[in-house]
Parts: sequence; C-alpha cells; structure tokens
Amino acid sequence: PPDAVPQAPEDPLFGLARAYKADDSPNKVDLGIGAYRDDNGKPWVLPVVRKADEVIRNDPEANHEYLPIAGLAALTSKAAELLLGTGSPALSEKRVSSVQTISGTGAVHLGALFLAKFYKVNGANRTLYLSNPTWANHNQIFSNVGIPTAQYPYFDKKTKGLDFEGMKSTLANAPDRSIVLLHACAHNPTGVDPTPEQWREIAAILKEKNHFPFFDTAYQGFASGDLDRDAGAIRYFVEQGFELVIAQSFAKNFGLYGERAGCFHYVAAPASDAANTTTRVASQLAILQRSEISNPPIYGAKIASIVLNDPALFAEWQENLRTMSGRIISMREALRSKLEELGTPGQWNHITDQIGMFSFTGLSEKQVQKLREDFHIYMTKNGRISMAGLNTRNVEYFAKAVDSVVRS
Ligand code: LMR
Repeated sequence: PPDAVPQAPEDPLFGLARAYKADDSPNKVDLGIGAYRDDNGKPWVLPVVRKADEVIRNDPEANHEYLPIAGLAALTSKAAELLLGTGSPALSEKRVSSVQTISGTGAVHLGALFLAKFYKVNGANRTLYLSNPTWANHNQIFSNVGIPTAQYPYFDKKTKGLDFEGMKSTLANAPDRSIVLLHACAHNPTGVDPTPEQWREIAAILKEKNHFPFFDTAYQGFASGDLDRDAGAIRYFVEQGFELVIAQSFAKNFGLYGERAGCFHYVAAPASDAANTTTRVASQLAILQRSEISNPPIYGAKIASIVLNDPALFAEWQENLRTMSGRIISMREALRSKLEELGTPGQWNHITDQIGMFSFTGLSEKQVQKLREDFHIYMTKNGRISMAGLNTRNVEYFAKAVDSVVRS
C-alpha cells in the first residue's frame, strides 16, 4: 500500500543543483554537478556538435523511427574502436559486443543487470568492489539489481592522492572472482588516477585473483585532452587478455548531457570460441535492453556517430576536447596559485596533481557548509568541486572564501 512507502532523501547532486538555482545572490558559484561550463559560467555546446546537428537537419531522409535494440551500429562500432584502438585484436577477433545505452548510467545499469543474471559462482552473485569514495550512484545501481557491494581504499586523506597500498591489499585479499569497478580515467569524485605503472600492478592482482574488471569511463579525451592516453588503462587490461565490461558515457566529452548517449561493451577473453561467447552475450544483452528501454534514443547517438565517422569532424572534436581540458587545467593552476599566494594553511599541490572534472579539495563537511552559508558557493559535502564551475571571474572569490573558512 502507498502508505508503506517511506520518504527517500533527495539525490545529493540534483538537490544541490536545485538549491543553487534558488539562491539569488549575484556572487553564487556552482561547483556541484560535473558539467562543463565556459569561462562565462555558461554551458558550452561544442562547435563540432553544432556542425553534426546541421548535418542531421539537412538530411532529407532523417526521421524519428526506432533504432534497433542494440542501438545505432555506426555509433557502437566506432565507440568500441575509440576505446580499444582501431587495431585492437579484440575487435578483429570479434570478441567485442556493444550496445548503445542511456548514457553512462544506463551502461552501468545494463552491465549490473547482466552480471546479476550471469556472473554467479555456485548460484550466488559475486561481490562488487567499489573505490572509497566513488560516484554515489554506483552504490544504488548495483544494489538495485541485488549485487552485493564492498569497498576498496582509494583516497589517501593525508596526501590527497592514491592510497595504493590499501587498494592493492584489499583487492588481493578479496574473495577470488570478485567484480572490481575501476574508473578508467579522471576518477569521480577524487580526480586521482593510478599511474600507468600502478595500473600494471592492479592488473596483475586482478589476474592473479581471477577478478572481473568493470570499467566506467565518462571522461575519455576530457581528462588529458588525449583520447588514446585516457583509454590507456582499458587498453592495457584488454591486452592482458581479461574478460571485462566497459560502461562508456558521451555526456561529458561531447557535452551531450541531456541527450543520454553512451554504450556498454562486453569484451571476451581471447579463446578459440570467443566469437561464439560474444554472440551469446549479445543475444542476452538484447533481451535485457528490450525489457528495460526497448531501444535507445536516437538524437545524441546520431550526433556522436556523425563526429566519430567523419575524419574532419573527428579532428575538430579533438580540438574541442583540448579546449575543455585546457581550460580546466588552467583553472587548477589559477586556484592553486591564488591559495598559495594567500598563504592559505595547508598544502595545495593536489589541486594541480588531480585530473579531470573534479578536485577533492580536502575541505571538511563543516567548511563546505560555511562556504555555502557565508559565500553562496555550492559543492558536495565530501569536499568535491567541479573544476568546470570555476572561471577567470570567480576563481579569486572562491580562493578567498576557502582561505577564510580554512582559517576560521
Ligand atoms: C557528477 O558526478 O556530478 C556527474 O557525473 C553527474 C551525475 O549524474 O551525477
């Protein structure tokens, strides 16, 4: 009965966005949801996305028909190439099965559903290990489908970098054949990524323990400005012969947030019957997809696919990615140098060491609250800031506000 439904808390990120909107201070600063803003604090439609949109609008054949259940093939095939590299043996050996999804969240969900149904040992689901901390939505997506979750240490509060020893020892001591969720690049919420050498060690542990890697990638090209570099960890794992899955979002790197464009990829391990395994997996993914969303939305998929399939537009997209990542890197430098200039107590090197959309500042929940009450600055209570919310107009205001709350 309806009165047995308890009140749930508001989503912390979208609640923050609502509170920011309702604030009428002219000084307010939005460092909440991870969405790119230009130097005027405005959403940025990528110029290459405008061009792709023109292509759709000028196509006399364009219509609003259903896509196939697995989505737009011209997108999913290029999306897999983008992740794995064009010459990847996984692709030529037909070991990859790809499905277009409702952005990254939909991809994580489809993967969760698939593993809940098919990845069992003695009839029971395996535990999935999440980094501590991780994107808050991960927890509920996996628990909604009945996959038990646990945590591995990730963020070292002292160095504001990676707790590599803690991470390794938890993964090495987890039961064999656990599932391990890994952020491919630009870790959300910390902005802390393993180095290539550390990725190799992580892969060796997962291999030794027969763990199942589940990659989440929402920032390819957005993190460093280099698409290949940001796919480095995934490519290394695939080269090592893992069976794995990847959730891929095009929200951030195409600025297609509300269009919900993304893909889920299953990669089989190299084996003589790998292509058959992949075909069977694809057939099951199609059933799951059909019952969940029938078929995915067309507009964002067309935009991304037009760009990925046209060499000139692809080159322009890389330019746009460098514009976004470059502005964020310059804001990291500006924030760090303002704080150092002010002599704000503490070390601030992590602001420039971290990468991608977010910085985990190390500010306490109380300091975060004070920033909101006294300065109209909005950020999640774990101290995460969306770097894209900073610009040449507000970075000094933010630095001075941080200086004030750190001293008080
Ligand atoms: C974020 O973490 O802010 C973004 O990934 C947006 C979201 O959906 O939570």
